[in-house]
Amino acid sequence: MRNRGLKLGAMLLLASASLCGQNKVTLRPSIDTVTISKHIYGHFAEHLGRCIYDGFYVGEANDSIAHTEGIRNDVVQALKKLQIPNLRWPGGCFADTYHWKDGIGPKAERPAIVNSWWGGVTEDNSFGTHDFLNMCELLETEPYLAGNVGSGEVQELADWVQYVNFNGESPMSDLRVKNGRKEAWTVRYWGVGNEAWGCGGNMTADYYADIYKKYATFMSAWGNKEGLYRIASGANSADYNWTETLMKKIPHSLMKGVALHHYAVIDWNAKGPSTKFSEEQYFKTMKSGWFMNELIDKHSAIMDKYDPEGRIDLIVDEWGGWYEVEPGTNPGFLYQQNTMRDAMLAGMTLNIFNNHAKRVKMANLAQAVNVLQSVILTRGNQIILTPTYHVMEMYKVHQDARQIPLDISTDSFTFAGDSIPALSASASKDEMGKIHVSLVNIDPTNNKKISIGLGGIKASNVEGRILKSQNLRDYNTFEKPETIVPALYKEAKLRDGTIEVDIPAFSVIVLELT
Ligand code: AHR
Repeated sequence: MRNRGLKLGAMLLLASASLCGQNKVTLRPSIDTVTISKHIYGHFAEHLGRCIYDGFYVGEANDSIAHTEGIRNDVVQALKKLQIPNLRWPGGCFADTYHWKDGIGPKAERPAIVNSWWGGVTEDNSFGTHDFLNMCELLETEPYLAGNVGSGEVQELADWVQYVNFNGESPMSDLRVKNGRKEAWTVRYWGVGNEAWGCGGNMTADYYADIYKKYATFMSAWGNKEGLYRIASGANSADYNWTETLMKKIPHSLMKGVALHHYAVIDWNAKGPSTKFSEEQYFKTMKSGWFMNELIDKHSAIMDKYDPEGRIDLIVDEWGGWYEVEPGTNPGFLYQQNTMRDAMLAGMTLNIFNNHAKRVKMANLAQAVNVLQSVILTRGNQIILTPTYHVMEMYKVHQDARQIPLDISTDSFTFAGDSIPALSASASKDEMGKIHVSLVNIDPTNNKKISIGLGGIKASNVEGRILKSQNLRDYNTFEKPETIVPALYKEAKLRDGTIEVDIPAFSVIVLELT
């Protein structure tokens, strides 16, 4: 009897703890930490569906859409507002079929090829190296070129580096000048193949490590003081052996980054719809997204073993939600809508990256426009900014800011007996001394009271912005493009070194403390 009473008492205590806010974030500003590389906020543009053609590039002759040398002005303007730090191109799987010399010189003379990975459509090569690198200048972003290892040749990739990066006299730089570009672009980031375990050549990790060494050796830095930042094609999600093999076999002098790809997908054979998803599908997407936390911990632990000084970076150069395509669209084009579920996924994943900023130095959301979890969708001369766009825009305050480590205790989001954390958070201090805390509540029905302990940070004011909506399945349409936009958030209460927040179900808040 007495025991039963005790248990009941304990249960009541737990219940009341949850009612008056067991959700707690504690900032640890006294711990010396790292800068959150702005490159974590990178993007990806592949020759896939309507990402390049229609999305970024509408052609020099287009007279219905405002453009600069064929590049949409509206897309450039929107991406500049995000301060996108880098853009990866031309793939993805397409990269290992791409022969860069097809995409230079007079456009009328460029060969048309078949885009065999994505819809079997004609690729006329009207968007090539000059178009991409000049576009990066317009966007004020750093290019990240993915080289063809799968179906290319060592000499071909070595030539591409020379064409793009060498200012002296050489066959490739002379060709570049002949094609209208005098000064080299000096591209730092180079991927040595893509998904070598799959569409990049179905290689084993051992075989790829050997091939990598050969390609990387002949990719000269052409006198560039900083050298080339070569990135090895990384693991498919939880393939830890891949990372281990690369770290063990490839001389670290030849490699600056090891990649990792992970998509939040329910089931590769039943991905579910992008808008009319069930609560079960929502849970499973979030669970797959949250798995990124474990993936980074485990891949980092392997990297720590071979590189305790942290010289090699983990580059998550493909991430995002992957659902069924929108009904009536080409299945090979991967065009999907973007709801509040995607905002949850983006906010949670960026919190994971911010909190792992010591090893994760770059990440690329797949993909920027009209493909998978896009920040922008286009239709004719219209564009819409997706909920994911707004999260990226709210989180840009963390770019190159000093990470503030934190502890978090949170309720769970439970479905059918399975659970993941309902809340995630990350924090940083920018150059001006402003502190930003981003909070995500992925619970689809319950708001959460959170108490944020500032760990001695002195602040006299807190305000912020919130992204929320009536319905988890809401999205922006071309008819109603502003259904979901950030709003000012003034409800946080600052008292005695603690902030109290009541965060609505499925919402993202970014607070600014001054
Ligand atoms: O982003 C779409 C595809 O997903 C990429 O081409 C490939 O690298 C990955 O499998």
